[in-house]
Amino acid sequence: MVLGILTAIAACPAIIGTTEAVRQGQAQNKREQHRGQKTHLVASCTKNSPQSGQINGGMVVLKDHKLYIAMPTDDDVPEEDELEFECAPPHPFTGYFMPHPAHNWKWQGEGLVSTIAPGPPILNWIYIDKDTNEVKYGDKNESAGHVMGPWNCTKIDRRMTFEGWEGFLAVKEKKGTWALYFDREDDGLKGKVQGRRMLEVELCRRERKKGKEDADNKNYNG
Ligand SMILES: *[C@@H]1O[C@H](CO)[C@@H](O)[C@H](O)[C@H]1NC(C)=O
Ligand SMILES: *[C@@H]1O[C@H](CO)[C@@H](O)[C@H](O)[C@H]1NC(C)=O
Repeated sequence: MVLGILTAIAACPAIIGTTEAVRQGQAQNKREQHRGQKTHLVASCTKNSPQSGQINGGMVVLKDHKLYIAMPTDDDVPEEDELEFECAPPHPFTGYFMPHPAHNWKWQGEGLVSTIAPGPPILNWIYIDKDTNEVKYGDKNESAGHVMGPWNCTKIDRRMTFEGWEGFLAVKEKKGTWALYFDREDDGLKGKVQGRRMLEVELCRRERKKGKEDADNKNYNG
């Protein structure tokens, strides 16, 4: 009898240990679910500057095979920008992490995809142009030979990283638009971009607004 009780007590930590491991495993899965969820990207400057008002809170958008930072249409937007985007409104980055078929970065991260237009979901890869360091989007052919990843995000704030760090730059183009670059060599785009204003930016993943159709899809309304 006595032995029986002792054995049970001795066995308890093992049982707790097991359930704790299972629970942690479940939490781990739950934590990683966000990686496959569609989010937008919102930019902000890492340092304050007279121009940071044109960047902070701006959405990352896709247009003509490049990624830009576009302010929501308010008074801060320079007029050229509004004209620039008037005909074909830019599409906000709407995407998630996805393993790339041609690369295996293991724990370092994955590829990144985004829809390229509203409507039927056509996905493109987001990549860094190996010659210009511009952040671009394209299909398999267009992106081949460029730097596809690894993309990942920071653990707590879920800011985007590329090759393990946050080297994103906003570069002001002649038209007044802010194009997105990655400073892969950490040299301020030496020999690639000259005489342009550039600002260090961080990119935060932001969940899409939940529309009524999301609720309807989940049968909230019967
Ligand atoms: C991405 O970053 C997280 C947090 O830093 C890390 O735990 C994880 O191993 C990285 N890679 C992948 C593929 O999630
Ligand atoms: C990609 O390139 C290959 C060979 O150059 C071509 O056969 C194929 O049609 C292209 N695919 C797309 C989607 O453009």
